[in-house]
Amino acid sequence: MSPPLKLAVLISGNGSNLQSIIDAIKSARLNAEIKAVISNNRHAFGLVRATQHGLHTWVLEHEDYKDRKQFDDVLRHYLEAIDPDYIVLAGFMRILGADFIRAFENRILNIHPSLLPAYKGLDTHQRVLDNHEKEHGVSIHLVTAKLDDGPVILQASYPIKPGDDAEKLQQRGHRLEHRMYPQVLSWLSSGDLSIKDGRLYYEQIPLEKPIPFDA
Ligand code: GRF
Repeated sequence: MSPPLKLAVLISGNGSNLQSIIDAIKSARLNAEIKAVISNNRHAFGLVRATQHGLHTWVLEHEDYKDRKQFDDVLRHYLEAIDPDYIVLAGFMRILGADFIRAFENRILNIHPSLLPAYKGLDTHQRVLDNHEKEHGVSIHLVTAKLDDGPVILQASYPIKPGDDAEKLQQRGHRLEHRMYPQVLSWLSSGDLSIKDGRLYYEQIPLEKPIPFDA
């Protein structure tokens, strides 16, 4: 078996996606090792989850740094020392600068609660409801310098039902998310999925469109 995929997971809040990755590793569904859990919010519950599982945690909050660049530089130095195979953004609510992203090109993943490229940014659940959309979804994508941009790897969609509110959509999305991140990471770990020069390959064949998640 190939060596475990080295991950750094960046969070800001609840950390339920982090938990799904921890659970997948513990149950041997995912051959990976979380080298560090990093949060830009010292109150993030995800830090408690990480500590409970004996993971190394680190907090860096923006008010301790003079500007965005200094924050990014400190984070970059820390990550360079860990040298993870992938940086997993799992509810990390801070925009990373282009220099940072360039330093880890092809190695940063994000999970976003919408059918990208639709509904980039925040409050996706309320916005799809306000626009009377018929469906909504979750996307896992490679991070590029543009917000919520970058090629989508795996995408799940689900119908919006009468009576749905933002909370119900969030819960439905989360149930999918918790299966999707471990899936993508396990493809990376096995080599089924690879990323080169900003392009995705599944079983060595260029991925022209997102893989539909089979819910
Ligand atoms: C998820 O809904 C994810 O799509 C978004 O932030 C949320 C994080 O949730 N990027 P959690 O902290 O993993 O529970």
